[in-house]
Amino acid sequence: MTAPGDVARRNSALFAWYRHNRRTLPWRDAGDPYATLVSEAMLQQTQVSRVIERYTAFMDRWPDVESLAAASNDEVLEAWSGLGYNSRAIRLRDAARAVAAGGWPTTVDGLRALPGVGPYTAAAIASMAFGEPVAAVDTNLRRILSRWVGEPLGGRRLHTVAGELVADPGGDWNQALMDLGAAICRPANPDCGRCPVAEWCSDPSVYEPPPRQSTFAGSRRQLRGALVRAHVAGNDLHAAGRALDRSADEIDGVIDDLRSEGLLPEAGGGRHR
Ligand code: ADE
Repeated sequence: MTAPGDVARRNSALFAWYRHNRRTLPWRDAGDPYATLVSEAMLQQTQVSRVIERYTAFMDRWPDVESLAAASNDEVLEAWSGLGYNSRAIRLRDAARAVAAGGWPTTVDGLRALPGVGPYTAAAIASMAFGEPVAAVDTNLRRILSRWVGEPLGGRRLHTVAGELVADPGGDWNQALMDLGAAICRPANPDCGRCPVAEWCSDPSVYEPPPRQSTFAGSRRQLRGALVRAHVAGNDLHAAGRALDRSADEIDGVIDDLRSEGLLPEAGGGRHR
């Protein structure tokens, strides 16, 4: 295990590297919880390069919590098209409604109570927008910290280690690890020769990839996305489902689910809030 002095030196080297190598991204440095919430919601399924454009358009349309709170389901679904998991767009809007009504929670626990905000996003907002020294634990952080300490981390142990290693300012620490993970400490072929913290890394070969997601083609998630897209485009829902070789029963079942989640309007209803 790394000695405490080494932890401090490794974090200093990490921050120094980050100052010179950080990516310029539109949601960075805003110090704005809304910018962090929107960008993190988009970044959960979509790669950074694609999010940049979508994020900017979204923020132009809904520049603050109040404007997003007033958006209808159909409006946010249309703006979210292609970003995956449509329910995330609705929960993002619902979180904006909660904040518009009650103000921003500033603690991780308070943030977690917002719709769609899990432990990772709560820590990302608390650290990047409110300066809390909390680690935003995702698969990237898991991989890097596992290599640093030389053991595959997971579950409670991963969170404990992350809490011990995170440095102030937490927002910079988290984003430095995101950039390190994207540029150098990649899942395959980490570029240890260019790594600013290689000196304090125990074992770059320690990395267990997370279990693969089940195949998208043929999945319920694929059908859900196709039906919402068909609705937004004004196309026939059953035709969209049949184009994916799905039975009428399966299509009807998914339509029922989407209606009960508010992702499609009720039968016979028009466009709705
Ligand atoms: N991935 C998730 N959040 C990110 C951020 N704030 N910057 C870069 N990549 C990210």
